[in-house]
Amino acid sequence: MLQAVKISEKVYWVGAIDWNIRDFHGYSTKRGTTYNAYLVLGEKPTLIDTVKKEFYGEMMERIQSVIDPQKIEIIISNHSELDHSGALPQTVAAVQPKEVYVSAMGLKNLTGHFHQDLHLKVVKTGDKIDVGGDTISFVEARMLHWPDSMFSYLEKENILFSNDVFGMHYATSNLFDDENDERIWLTQAEKYYANIVLPYSDIVLRFLDQVKKMGLSPKMIAPDHGFIWRKDPSKIVSLYEKWATQAPKNKAVIVYDTMWGSTAQMASQIADGLRAGGTDVKVLSMHSNDRSKVALELLDASALIIGSPVLNSQIFPSMADVLCYLKGLRKKGLIGAAFGSYGWNGAPVDELTKTLESMQVEVVAPAVKSPFVPDDNVKKSCWELGALISQKLAEKVK
Ligand code: FEO
Repeated sequence: MLQAVKISEKVYWVGAIDWNIRDFHGYSTKRGTTYNAYLVLGEKPTLIDTVKKEFYGEMMERIQSVIDPQKIEIIISNHSELDHSGALPQTVAAVQPKEVYVSAMGLKNLTGHFHQDLHLKVVKTGDKIDVGGDTISFVEARMLHWPDSMFSYLEKENILFSNDVFGMHYATSNLFDDENDERIWLTQAEKYYANIVLPYSDIVLRFLDQVKKMGLSPKMIAPDHGFIWRKDPSKIVSLYEKWATQAPKNKAVIVYDTMWGSTAQMASQIADGLRAGGTDVKVLSMHSNDRSKVALELLDASALIIGSPVLNSQIFPSMADVLCYLKGLRKKGLIGAAFGSYGWNGAPVDELTKTLESMQVEVVAPAVKSPFVPDDNVKKSCWELGALISQKLAEKVK
């Protein structure tokens, strides 16, 4: 029988480990993920969040290992996205809790998801509930990363349940930060920030400031993905401050695809011009990389250079995909340019420049275009584009 795991005097982890998920709505989860739910065993047993629908049985079995689920009096839904609320209707039906607490937007979203009355009760920042022997206070975390997102803070035990924030897609049976290898988790945490939290970086900075002013200094931060921060919760908070600040760095990312190798040759020339100028450059072909890897590399870069061949008077489909994705992530402070090869219609390569502008990227040069295979002149233009961007980056990071 699956077991709950004790994480503090009164709190148990009762979540699920999804070892095999590889695609989380378009985000490549090569190391799987977890859906963390927590059970506070005070006089009024309280369940904080549930799990993805398919993992309802796993969560309930873990709950049953420490308590009859029908003794749960309170359920808190910190976030309505279906990886945390998918099992909520079934759980409410099985447990029959006295109260189910959500934020105002949580009420709206959960109603939109399930179209049934789950007897939800709305709470807001500053509200407190008695869970029998301890108190949970609520802090709304709007747009981190949905409008309904909310934190729950267990006051006496000093544990902050932060939902998606401070989490990562990382399946691990080791529940705590000090039991996991930083060489692995750091990349996963960074990738999670780059793909989920990045568009809300300004809100992150304001929110962290607000939490500091509230005087919260939790001994544990328990997110809904990945592991629990107990050894040094301030570590992930500092990383969030760093990632949200998006300070300029002398790093460029070249993203491209190629049909017959011409655009690939151009990418190599641009990369060499960047390298010669002292810029750290990452070259990512969309033939070999997925969009969430590109987002990860772009997180600490300050230049984005995009290249595409022309296919049926359009840019290559893989480039359209990644550019649509990156546009949504709204990375700030980028400079960039476009390049690409074509046969008889070069206009789609110029469209790439317009796409960069629509992404608020500062375009530093017109697109370099190669009719068919690049000749020495085109190669030179590509190399010089790399050198120019390197020079601009050096000025930017001064
Ligand atoms: Fe883990 Fe926004 O859901």
